[in-house]
Amino acid sequence: MKTPSPQAFRRALLRHFDRTRRDLPWRSDRTPYRVLVSEVMLQQTRVETAAPYYLRWIRRFPGWETLATASRDDVLLAWKGLGYYARASNLHRTAVVVRERHGGRLPRDPAVLRTLPGVGEYTAGAVASIAFGVPVPAVDGNVRRVLARLLDAPRPSVSQLRAEAARLLDPRRPGDFNEALMELGATVCTPKSPRCGACPVAAHCRARSAGTVLERPAPRRVPKPRRAEYAVAVAVDERRRALLVRRPEPGLLAGMWEFPGAEMRVAGDERSPPESVAQAALARLAGLGPAVGGKVAGRLRPVRHVFTHLAVVYHPVVVACRAGALDALERAAGGLEGASAGGARPADPTRTAVVVSLEDLAHLAVPVAQQKIAAQLEGWLRDRAP
Ligand code: ADE
Repeated sequence: MKTPSPQAFRRALLRHFDRTRRDLPWRSDRTPYRVLVSEVMLQQTRVETAAPYYLRWIRRFPGWETLATASRDDVLLAWKGLGYYARASNLHRTAVVVRERHGGRLPRDPAVLRTLPGVGEYTAGAVASIAFGVPVPAVDGNVRRVLARLLDAPRPSVSQLRAEAARLLDPRRPGDFNEALMELGATVCTPKSPRCGACPVAAHCRARSAGTVLERPAPRRVPKPRRAEYAVAVAVDERRRALLVRRPEPGLLAGMWEFPGAEMRVAGDERSPPESVAQAALARLAGLGPAVGGKVAGRLRPVRHVFTHLAVVYHPVVVACRAGALDALERAAGGLEGASAGGARPADPTRTAVVVSLEDLAHLAVPVAQQKIAAQLEGWLRDRAP
């Protein structure tokens, strides 16, 4: 098969895109800010999932200034449920950098874009081409698959992909071209059941001629996530208030709020029971001895959650506390005395513990697994209500 002419390829691809482009929320009223927000959301998230989050985000933070001045809790809350929370923190930090170092405007040079927190080669290329019309490629997972098939390459290198994308790119419509390739990968050139009959560039596809479409690219060996078991201390008082702690930064779920807990270590073949690990976690938090002023009142059902590198089973243990004991725990763990009683939003970003009512928990950025534990706790308390 002869190398396809880039001109014929562009014409066929863009004609198809012009006829079929999806009406996505980030495709109307485009600004550099909106393009960056949508591209960061779409890094690990499907279009259908991202769309409602995007619309809410833009309503809540319409531009750089509102995002730069928002609290970290508000930013994490708006991202709650999307996963990969470092993306939200990075957007927040980017807003501050844009305001302080770039005069409130996103730079257009892809090399400068790459200096922003969380902006890698793909995102810089997507934003530069879509928002500013800079002729640079943007190779995401979908585009990698399309190019691997066009080239009939089982394991194309990053530089090979970039070179091919740059060769094919339409310099007159670089943003549309990049989006058209992404969209082709998402809707036609799909991993398991590609619709080659509907593909505008099938005539340019080496894998199609060779009959190797389903084998391109070759599957990557993804390491199995490490398995871990955590005991979770759900410390709750008679006023339906629970103790949450903020996760450290940087790291998994950085800055989000969760019930305190600890990994259950295997000693010989014996695991310590979640009750003792949970109690010990509370005691450590308070810097006290084992007397934390609460007693184990029951277990909730285990909750499972799989992160990229970690498959966790949480074992929640309800620890019934007197209100005074929870407040003391909060103070000992670095909370601010009195500040949390009625309001769910901790004013001080450095505080590491907060006591909140179950109703107010919805106003905090709480990871999905921990929300499931909180929902179980509601039922547990209801069943035991006098
Ligand atoms: N995936 C990532 N960015 C995209 C975009 N701009 N359009 C469609 N799908 C995408």
